[in-house]
Amino acid sequence: MPFLLLTLLFFTLSNAALDPDSVYQSFLECLPLNSPESADNLSSVVYSSTTNSSAYTAVLQNYIKNKRFNTSSTPKPSVIITPTTESQVQAAVLCAKKLGVQIKIRSGGHDYEGISYVSTEPDFVILDMFNFKTIEVNIEDETAVVGAGAQLGELYYRIYEKSGKCIRTSF
Ligand SMILES: *[C@@H]1O[C@H](CO)[C@@H](O)[C@H](O)[C@H]1NC(C)=O
Ligand SMILES: *[C@@H]1O[C@H](CO)[C@@H](O)[C@H](O)[C@H]1NC(C)=O
Ligand SMILES: *[C@@H]1O[C@H](CO)[C@@H](O)[C@H](O)[C@H]1NC(C)=O
Repeated sequence: MPFLLLTLLFFTLSNAALDPDSVYQSFLECLPLNSPESADNLSSVVYSSTTNSSAYTAVLQNYIKNKRFNTSSTPKPSVIITPTTESQVQAAVLCAKKLGVQIKIRSGGHDYEGISYVSTEPDFVILDMFNFKTIEVNIEDETAVVGAGAQLGELYYRIYEKSGKCIRTSF
């Protein structure tokens, strides 16, 4: 019987959603411990669903390309982190692991199933890569180095710009 109670208690605890505000505060505390950047720089890329609600909603909706997931009942992340440097990306991943919060990584918007920003976990955060849009096309080498947040149309345009050729794709 004590074992059953313990199991039930654990089950309840592990499925209970954390307070979104406490997730936000935990990230604000954790990020500077895992990055050489200042606490101010780090907090300027973290959007809380409560503290920064209107900016948070704007950032969240910006890369929802599928209307089906643009509803009030779609599960929302506790925070959205929009890194501008690689060290911020590293710190965000380390902190999500330390805090036991699922991390969803959203890139250039070609995920039409919403997998990069919807979750069935009670707590999750989005690491939104839209600031990483650099595209370097090298025609001689036939290579392209593409930032995670670049969109397909932007990539095709840059390739066209350098090569004068359009790309034909089939899905
Ligand atoms: C904070 O960000 C500014 C502007 O991006 C940068 O110049 C500065 O080096 C950063 N400071 C720290 C301590 O990370
Ligand atoms: C969110 O709000 C807090 C408190 O007003 C502010 O310090 C922080 O910079 C805001 N975050 C962003 C990403 O704007
Ligand atoms: C999502 O909803 C917001 C607010 O209703 C709207 O401004 C935005 O255009 C919508 N985005 C898409 C892709 O439907």
